[in-house]
Amino acid sequence: MNSQIVIEVQGLSKRYGKLLALNNVNFSIHGGEIFGLLGPNGAGKSTFISILTTLSKPTAGDILIKGFSATKQPDKIKRSIGFVPQDIALYSVLSGMDNLNFWAGIYGLKGELKKQRIEEALSIVRLADRAKDKVENYSGGMKRRLNIAVALLHHPEILVMDEPTVGVDIQSRKYIIDGIMELKKEGRTVIFTSHYIDEMESLCDRIAIIDKGTIRNIGTVNELKHAYGKENIEEIMLDFMEE
Ligand SMILES: Nc1ncnc2c1ncn2[C@@H]1O[C@H](COP(=O)(O)OP(=O)(O)OP(=O)(O)O)[C@@H](O)[C@H]1O
Ligand SMILES: [Mg+2]
Repeated sequence: MNSQIVIEVQGLSKRYGKLLALNNVNFSIHGGEIFGLLGPNGAGKSTFISILTTLSKPTAGDILIKGFSATKQPDKIKRSIGFVPQDIALYSVLSGMDNLNFWAGIYGLKGELKKQRIEEALSIVRLADRAKDKVENYSGGMKRRLNIAVALLHHPEILVMDEPTVGVDIQSRKYIIDGIMELKKEGRTVIFTSHYIDEMESLCDRIAIIDKGTIRNIGTVNELKHAYGKENIEEIMLDFMEE
């Protein structure tokens, strides 16, 4: 991790009608950090991620990504971010390779570089041997991994993933976790949400606990355990859900 702040969340709020999905959220993420967002269903995690990836606009506040405003300069940010959405977004009648070719084209990659990037992405998610198969014949975990490969094609500095390991078997989960570690080694910043607390505890440099649109606490696993006087993060989360 380097100490440079790459993401700065400033007074971020998002309202859907009467519902305040994010309520004045403020925090920063450093370059090279693996940062986890942990919170119950409906806490506001996906809402935050949709603003971070410039897919939706906040009601108030902003997110600065490498100094650029997510609300005012989305075009400056798109190249820095790779996004893996909560729902699978792939063309199921095409092969994995053709999906990657399609997206690589959208990102403006051509020739040898395009070939290299596709090979690299397939290798990170361990799908090279299934690249020629149609996506409709992939398992859920393979589809998820292909989605991650798509998000890596343009070499984003920041990878944002909404529940990348939900509904995947242990082998796919291992590949995804190994992939995240590989990206960290390259100095990239990874932000992800998950309901798997064990996974968060072992992977994340820091975790933000979010509940009802509010950041309740941010810290390393040890800092959070100390702050709440608990043995593990699961106990902390159970307390939140009982409130
Ligand atoms: N487009 C929308 N219109 C209205 N309400 C929305 C919309 N998107 C989200 N919400 C509401 O905002 C709140 C936060 O939702 P969000 O999807 O951000 O939660 P989450 O933390 O990602 O939950 P989960 O763990 O279930 O994925 C919820 O109450 C949700 O119903
Ligand atoms: Mg969500």
